[in-house]
Amino acid sequence: MTVDFIQDQLQSLRKASLYRRVRSVAGEQDAILTVDGRQVLNFCSNNYLGLANHPALREAAKEAIDRYGCGSGASRLISGNMTLHEELESQIAELKGTEAALVFNSGFQANTGVIPVLVGEADVVLSDALNHASIIDGCRLSRAKIFVYRHCDMNELERGLKNSPPDSRKLIVTESLFSMDGDEAPLADIVSLAEEHGAVVMVDEAHATGIYEPHGAGLVAKLGLGDRVLVQMGTLGKALGGFGAYVAGSQGLRELLINRCRSFIFTTALPPAVMAMAIAAIDLIKKEPERRQALRDNFQLLRGGLELLGYSLGTSQSQI
Ligand SMILES: Cc1ncc(COP(=O)(O)O)c(C=O)c1O
Repeated sequence: MTVDFIQDQLQSLRKASLYRRVRSVAGEQDAILTVDGRQVLNFCSNNYLGLANHPALREAAKEAIDRYGCGSGASRLISGNMTLHEELESQIAELKGTEAALVFNSGFQANTGVIPVLVGEADVVLSDALNHASIIDGCRLSRAKIFVYRHCDMNELERGLKNSPPDSRKLIVTESLFSMDGDEAPLADIVSLAEEHGAVVMVDEAHATGIYEPHGAGLVAKLGLGDRVLVQMGTLGKALGGFGAYVAGSQGLRELLINRCRSFIFTTALPPAVMAMAIAAIDLIKKEPERRQALRDNFQLLRGGLELLGYSLGTSQSQI
């Protein structure tokens, strides 16, 4: 068998200046990093609130290992919910103000798994052009007809809704705080359009969880739209400093995902230490709003400085 295609592909990536390599970081994730042996200021992390190395998260992880061990054994449908799965999910549901929540091993797995549960071959998914790769892949896996609307363009979204077959199920999926441009989706308009055209809405709060008042629940909660959004997903690995993801919504949604979502069913569950870290992080984001204020102060200071230097910040309204 020839493996020339590997070298050929690497060569074309290099030629197109698209070849990537992963830098080595010594020590912890922090504001100053040692990258490939050099000290640098870190502006690229999603560790927005500095929780990735917080003593409370470290302690929670250590205690969980002592009490519950290291691994979760299998998928939850096989080896069951551990106490910490249940505790974490009730903490997330309380934070988000939803009936229920379900944790996933990553945001990527949540998006690729959840969308195919919500729509199938006979349906339509309407997706913002700047949605994350995991949403794009979730849409593809669903086999629904995909309508990509121009970034935050409500006229185009409306056109897509009007052109969808009337008897198809329609799902609008968007990030709330966009991971690349740092701007906010017009969620109130999206929800109104969905209601007008009989569609349901899924919002990815990966970069918004932990960031918005009140209590860091996300942009959906800040705008009071929780009851009008079918699915809120977010990650535990960005502002919350750890790893994993959640889906928050109704009890029925949770039950359906447990029964149908392949990326929940066919994978080993999150381990105790990771869940304990997330529980500690949720406690901190509720108790310490000053962390969010510090983030806002920092990004405003940085914005001001960059603008003075003549940089354009595009449409960003945030830390991104
Ligand atoms: C908008 C968005 N959704 C989902 C994900 C995936 O989350 P995770 O890193 O937990 O897989 C990311 C980034 O990682 C993201 O930026």
